[in-house]
Amino acid sequence: MGTVTPIGNTNSPSGQSWNTSSYDRNTRFVSKFGEDVLALLAPQKGERILDLGCGDGVLTLKIAEAGAEAVGVDASQSFIETAQSKGVDAHCIDGHNLTYDREFDAVFSNAALHWMLEPQKVIDGVARALKPGGRFVGEFGGFGNVAAISSAMSAVGNAMGGDPSLTCPWFFPTTEQYANMLVEGGLEVASITSFYRPTPLPTEIRGWLETMRAPFFEQFGSEIEVAYERVINALKPALCDYKGNWIADYVRLRFSATLPV
Ligand code: BEZ
Repeated sequence: MGTVTPIGNTNSPSGQSWNTSSYDRNTRFVSKFGEDVLALLAPQKGERILDLGCGDGVLTLKIAEAGAEAVGVDASQSFIETAQSKGVDAHCIDGHNLTYDREFDAVFSNAALHWMLEPQKVIDGVARALKPGGRFVGEFGGFGNVAAISSAMSAVGNAMGGDPSLTCPWFFPTTEQYANMLVEGGLEVASITSFYRPTPLPTEIRGWLETMRAPFFEQFGSEIEVAYERVINALKPALCDYKGNWIADYVRLRFSATLPV
């Protein structure tokens, strides 16, 4: 299976860049929820564990606190600098280009794999990085994730003459689709599930949109505020409750797989 084409995409990159302080303010729940996946990973003292798409390193540190030797990689230099400032052994490496060879007891990933649009390439690199018997444990957006948000941006983008490749550059597979990819990569699937996780947004939908999809809005230049207003208005009936709380329509795919001995 090859490159995943984001909704309406023409294979151009997401254009995403990360502002670590606004990420912290608007989406701290990402690492908070990640603690459930950490429990599935169950890091052991003395293990060497790779955190794939480590972001600002909050969960990499937790893996290290469990006594493992934790290494973080992320494609974003600004995230890597933030992780390093916390003492994490972090390296700026795109998940598509892993070159580790049989050196990790486990590879862990939280809320990052949906940004990697050549998933089979990522899985192949993970399988190569694992020692025999090693495990790949992760969670990311599953099929239907942020469907309302994606539909609203898509409609506004079309109406305002936007570039479709900037709308939804994400990979949200079904469990069947991702299980097949894991098997194709030589891994055995121990568990795989997807579930709905309505996620309260601490800085409302505007904060989420600014952090997660700035390139979509910035393409409209002087009309940027019009674009925000149209998307937010379109989303209100679906995601804003009667008290004015915004809740994102998250679907998570959680899995654990092993490299046969
Ligand atoms: C997510 O964690 O589900 C997500 C994050 C950014 C963009 C889209 C989805």
